[in-house]
Amino acid sequence: RAPEPTTLVIFGATGDLATRKLLPAVFGLWQDGLLGSAFNIVGVGRQDMTDEQFQEFALSALKTSKETDEIREGSLEKFRGLLYYEGGDFGADDIYRRVGEELDRAQTAHGGRKNALFYLSVPPSLFEPISAGLGRLDLQNEAEGWRRLVIEKPFGRNLSSARALNDAIHTVWDESQVYRIDHYLGKETVQNLMAIRFGNSIFEPLWNRGYVEHVQITAAEDLGLEGRAGYYEEAGVVRDMLQNHLMQLFALTAMEAPAAFDADAIRDEKVKVLRAVRPIPPERVGQVAVRGQYGPGSLYGQDVPGYAEEPNVKPGSVTPTYVALKLEVDNWRWQGVPFYLRTGKRLPKKVTEIAVVFKRPPLGIFPGGAERNVLAFRIQPDEGVSLKFSSKMPGQEMVLREVVMDFRYDAFGAQLESPYSRLLLDAMLGDATLFPREDEVDHAWQIVSGILQAWEGEDQANGPYAPHFPNYPAGTWGPDEADALIGPDRRWRRL
Ligand code: BG6
Repeated sequence: RAPEPTTLVIFGATGDLATRKLLPAVFGLWQDGLLGSAFNIVGVGRQDMTDEQFQEFALSALKTSKETDEIREGSLEKFRGLLYYEGGDFGADDIYRRVGEELDRAQTAHGGRKNALFYLSVPPSLFEPISAGLGRLDLQNEAEGWRRLVIEKPFGRNLSSARALNDAIHTVWDESQVYRIDHYLGKETVQNLMAIRFGNSIFEPLWNRGYVEHVQITAAEDLGLEGRAGYYEEAGVVRDMLQNHLMQLFALTAMEAPAAFDADAIRDEKVKVLRAVRPIPPERVGQVAVRGQYGPGSLYGQDVPGYAEEPNVKPGSVTPTYVALKLEVDNWRWQGVPFYLRTGKRLPKKVTEIAVVFKRPPLGIFPGGAERNVLAFRIQPDEGVSLKFSSKMPGQEMVLREVVMDFRYDAFGAQLESPYSRLLLDAMLGDATLFPREDEVDHAWQIVSGILQAWEGEDQANGPYAPHFPNYPAGTWGPDEADALIGPDRRWRRL
């Protein structure tokens, strides 16, 4: 499958995301011949730059990025010829007019078509102005080629601003033209979760309240702020990770089997299960959610500063860097089966995992009782799937021990591609399966907005639940309250 001739227009082309992730991803696709014969990139930014300066900038970014695939002889110089640049003020019409002219210029080489993918790799405050600017110049109009808009996260700050943003975008674009990126959906192993659930017959019969005791979804990061205080102080862990990445992992784990593997069938099922999540009004938040912020600590034998000591964090900041949440799902499949989600920065290691923990056998006939079986999807790193069960140890005694059956992705012997390559290519092909639809984003916001409301309200009022931060040292698994949230009969997995 190769996309039709396409112009990729990257707004924010000299920004962090574009240089670290997008350019290497596009370069990799192009070098592997996946972008078809006619393709070009127009970088757009506020800075003034000539095409040549942008080409130099992009090539040196590619040379230094860790994400760039192996560069083949002569590739960079050929890639240079695909790069153009337009600089100016995103609030004025001039820049959109010039973007339009770039599409006109590419038209002949693109077989008469003017297909364009507009990628908004800019701060969220610019999503609306750029979408509107493109609309003023009628660049969303598909008369001469398809037009699609890719929007980065965070999609809104809360439910009402996400709705307002959706409305504003829909004044210009049809929903079918809008691709909201959640890069977790582009991860190979996240897609494999669907493959394993729905491409086999042995898992689904057990995937319900009859057999599953609870589910744990963990996205642990060892990194701290990485110089992103400006963004993170505004976002915090709920907007940065929970509302998007963890909610998507939850939805894919808990949804019903779609009738077909297509964008709408899958997204319909995700929406259905998000709608079935028991609402969390602010007054319930204390029972189902725990927040944390890391203090000074140590990781891999090195001392690291606490969040409040990171450069550009406001003194006394109450921005959470850790959240643990219990979700209950009011549908037939999951009644009574809690889903525990946790994510945080400066935890002991980087690991993302979905673990389905099964009930104990109904009768413990062996000494020592029986353990719970666990089916764990390791999203990253060491991607794979493992099944933990009990087995007799060799010897005279009937003693059981837990053993693990392991599938490792490296068995395929292939490099896993970057999620951005997958998602960019899908957007150019017009396949929206791995992009959250408007109603999914809305329902994910409905679930988390009570949490934000409760916490931000308490902070402002400095009420009894206002946090005593920091409440976990860097390099540990989060605040003690998170253990209380899952316990006493259950424990977070040691990863
Ligand atoms: C991003 C968040 O969306 O996801 C970052 O903004 C986070 O804060 C990152 O570090 C984690 O992604 P990954 O792919 O490294 O797990």
